[in-house]
Formats: sequence, C-alpha cells, structure tokens
Amino acid sequence: MGVEICVEGLTKSFGDQVIWQNVSLTLPAGEVSVMLGPSGTGKSVFLKSLVGLLKPERGSIRIAGTDITKLREHDLYEVRKLFGVLFQDGALFGSMNLYDNIAFPLREHTRKQESAIRKIVLEKMDMVGLIGAEDKLPGEISGGMRKRAGLARALVLDPEIILFDEPDSGLDPVRVAYLNQLIVDLNAQIDATFLIVTHDIASARQVPDNIGLLFRRELVMFGPRKQLLTSDEPVVRQFLNGRMQGPIGMAEEKDAATMAREAVHFGNGGAADSAGIAEMTPRLLPGPGIDRPPRWQAIAEQEEAREAQETHEAQEVSGA
Ligand SMILES: Nc1ncnc2c1ncn2[C@@H]1O[C@H](COP(=O)(O)OP(=O)(O)OP(=O)(O)O)[C@@H](O)[C@H]1O
Ligand SMILES: [Mg+2]
Repeated sequence: MGVEICVEGLTKSFGDQVIWQNVSLTLPAGEVSVMLGPSGTGKSVFLKSLVGLLKPERGSIRIAGTDITKLREHDLYEVRKLFGVLFQDGALFGSMNLYDNIAFPLREHTRKQESAIRKIVLEKMDMVGLIGAEDKLPGEISGGMRKRAGLARALVLDPEIILFDEPDSGLDPVRVAYLNQLIVDLNAQIDATFLIVTHDIASARQVPDNIGLLFRRELVMFGPRKQLLTSDEPVVRQFLNGRMQGPIGMAEEKDAATMAREAVHFGNGGAADSAGIAEMTPRLLPGPGIDRPPRWQAIAEQEEAREAQETHEAQEVSGA
C-alpha cells in the first residue's frame, strides 16, 4: 500500500546559503504528489534529502516510522531499497549499455538469477518503449530515450516510494502525455507513494493527488490538488498559471517597487485573474485495461460527479 513519508521542520543549507527551512509535509501512502518551484529553489536537494544522499541540519524525515536523518550509512542502504529514483540528469552509467544499466539495481540488491532479471528488465523496457535499444550506450541515444531508460531503472525493484526529478524535461508533448498516463497507470497498479518534481504545469494540474510549492526558501503550500488549484495565494496563482505577473521574478523575488508598478499596469490581480486558476482541471484517470483499486474507483466517481455538476451549472447559466 506504499509507505508514508512524514517530513517535519526540515532545514538544509550549504555553507551560509540556506536552501529551504522549516519544511513540513506528509506524502500520504500510495498517493501521487508533485513538487513545484522556480529553478534553484531546492527541489532536487529535497529529493536527495529524502533518499538520505544529503543531510539536512534540522528536522526529521520519517519513512514507515524510522527517522532516516538519524541513520548510519549501512542502515540507509537498507532503506534505499524502498526507493525507485530518477535523478534529474538520468545518472546512467556511460560505459554500460541500456540493458545492463536497467539490470544494475537487480544485480546489486537482489540474488535473482539472470533469467529472472532478464524477464524484469525486458518488461520494464517494454513499458517505457525501449525494446530494441538494449545494446545501445547512453551516449548513442536521444535525451528522451535516456530519460525513459532512467525511468525503467527506477522501477525494476518494484519500489514502495518513487521519486522522479523532472521526468518530463526534454520530452516532446506527446511523450509527456504518455509519461503522465504511465505514472497514473503505475500508481493504480503498484500503489507506491510518488513524488514528482516537474515544471510542466499541465501535468501538475491533472496528475497528482497533492501539490507543493517551494519559493523563497520555504514550502509556500502543500496540500490536496484542489486546495492549490483554487488558491488565492499570489505565488501559487502565478506559478500554476505560468505568468510573469506576481511575486516571482526572472532572477529571484521581485522588489516592492516592481510589484507596485505591475499592480498599476495590470490591476492588482483582480477577479479575472483568480478566475483562471479557480477552474478545476479534469483529473487524469488510469487507462483502459488497467484495473482500478478502490482508491482510483473513488477518484473516478468524484470526477464524474464534478463533471455532472459543471454541466448542470453551465446549463443553468445558459438557461438564465
Ligand atoms: N552539493 C551541493 N553543494 C552546494 N550547493 C548545492 C549543492 N546542490 C545544490 N546546491 C545549491 O542548492 C540550490 C538548489 O539547487 P537544486 O538543484 O535543488 O534546485 P532545483 O529547484 O532543483 O532547480 P531546477 O529547477 O533548476 O532543477 C542551488 O542554489 C544549488 O546551487
Ligand atoms: Mg532540480
């Protein structure tokens, strides 16, 4: 049923540079969460902290009840077996072909026979559309293929927790759509706890149960999708609508004078502005042929009810 991750009061710095402070959130077991935030706000640092690769100075990360910030390297090694991770740069071994890259965690962490390993590797390669590319080296394939090889490698151990750092960056829009469907289908099938870092707002709006946003060295908000999509908080609204207008600037946060000039120029983020985000995006559901566990059945029913309600409201407006 996946594993809950409970983060409390987490603070991470490098030297005197605070990356984020006092971050608290719970990734509910078996649910899909997305982490958003401008470039450089520490999303990748957060993922690496969850796996124990970086050590926060303060706070706790409880995974299935164990605070991993207190663990020694040997015990961390055991905890890491729960994870399937796709790092932002893919992190494939350059001198190994794709087959061996994807087989690596199985050879490293299990005592499975090569025949069993082969079956798993080919199944995962098929899942991400890489059959036929087994013998290719990472340097010989496109960025999107490397990304998909990284995805396949993250899945081979049937992880309880899946962390994907920008799985969609560098993919064309059609592949992003396939990837989103793959994530939803996977969640229905293996029921792991997912955390996905992405800059793709369309994906962030339709895929997860929960959304979080890092900005100004803090977790501005983390909660159910609907709470963020309908939020009036200016940073959340700006980010989820992908606008220049708002507190987030090109380099870092905007100063008060720039904000004041914008308020005069655009109006102060009035009613029309909030309407854009108040709109709920339909939720992506598991595809045909995928059995829906009770959790997804309930989500599908909620979606149907919401659509019926929207149709009803639209009819009332047109009839009035
Ligand atoms: N090992 C490290 N040592 C020192 N500073 C680091 C280290 N790793 C990350 N940083 C710094 O931490 C900050 C956050 O980096 P991080 O890669 O987490 O950003 P991000 O939110 O993932 O950005 P992007 O969206 O561009 O991937 C940056 O200022 C980066 O330079
Ligand atoms: Mg990053």
